[in-house]
Amino acid sequence: MESIDIYSGDKVISRVMAEESLAGLEACLKPYAHVFAVMDRAVAVHCPAAAEIADVLNRRNVPGMLMDASECHKTMETVMEICTWLLENGADRDALVLAVGGGITTDMTGFAASIYKRGVRFAYVPTTLLAQVDAAIGGKTGVNFEKYKNILGVIRQPEFTYMCPQVLESLPRRDFLSGAAEMLKTFVIEDGGCYARAVELLSGMSEEYENGRRETSEADPWGDTVGRHTRELAELIAAAARVKAGVVSRDQFEKGERRKLNLGHTFAHAIETLAQKDGGERFKCCEDDGMPGVTHGEAVAMGMVLAARLADRYYRNDSAAITEREVARGLKNCGIRCTCPYSVQEMADIMRKDKKAEGGKVHFVLPKAIGDVEAVELSVEEAVALMA
Ligand code: GLY
Repeated sequence: MESIDIYSGDKVISRVMAEESLAGLEACLKPYAHVFAVMDRAVAVHCPAAAEIADVLNRRNVPGMLMDASECHKTMETVMEICTWLLENGADRDALVLAVGGGITTDMTGFAASIYKRGVRFAYVPTTLLAQVDAAIGGKTGVNFEKYKNILGVIRQPEFTYMCPQVLESLPRRDFLSGAAEMLKTFVIEDGGCYARAVELLSGMSEEYENGRRETSEADPWGDTVGRHTRELAELIAAAARVKAGVVSRDQFEKGERRKLNLGHTFAHAIETLAQKDGGERFKCCEDDGMPGVTHGEAVAMGMVLAARLADRYYRNDSAAITEREVARGLKNCGIRCTCPYSVQEMADIMRKDKKAEGGKVHFVLPKAIGDVEAVELSVEEAVALMA
């Protein structure tokens, strides 16, 4: 078991347990006498590993609540439902609220626990790759409000985040690759050789998957592909967690360095907003898989490519080491969609209203090389003019 610690000064404020399987979960729960579990209903139904988690919880008589974890349910009403359920089940100040699910589940459960009785402890078992490498680490919690994503919330750290690739085997490939985009983003920010390793592994998995589809009658052999690579995946997930834990330890409240984690996100939020407005019609080439026309991770991938274009223009005289084409090639080889169907002019108005914009300026995170990014303050007009 590898424990990756998150610090405030020299005090450990949260732990990430990076594992290959669920075998160590019970030991992590042992110190907590009163655990209350909130699980995404879809995870309970579709993720075989959920039965193993349920066994651990049943052995300890942990009460459980199922919730619908979709973007449209990411509201104060759902947070209130969690609080009501905690009250009805007698959760006290010594409770530990355990969230089992993707980023929407962990964001909302963390928020509910943060305000319930002025704050009780909480922990996460993230079941998507995106939540494992990003959402469930670092303490950002919250819900959508009016038309803004994650506009209400607090930064408060989970006791622990327990993660392992075992729970990822039932993820649809597009969902998995959406998380892979955030993992690659992390390695563009800080590398240590992981970016190339991740691209090699994910490209190889994509090839195996395509061959498997040709050779077997199985409708979707992606889970088998993931199952064959748990060790390498566990190492890369742990490496991404180490990078994020380091950044959060140095800048928990996003006054400086943590902004780097938003690489590609200003563009990504604009892409997701435009896709919502036009019903995702520019992404109609996507198969009907019940997922949005563009997933968050795909939008981040597109945003990284655009950020590389902006970096290329911004550092024109410094012959930037990484180009838009190189970033796009790496993502495409992994099977990640990264071609943005919107022009930067179409995105401009939304970027101006980004919740992270300050005084009309946005911190655009620019990749100079793999493992070297810089947050640069530009107005949206300046960025659009450079990218035109
Ligand atoms: N998802 C970016 C952050 O946690 O800061």
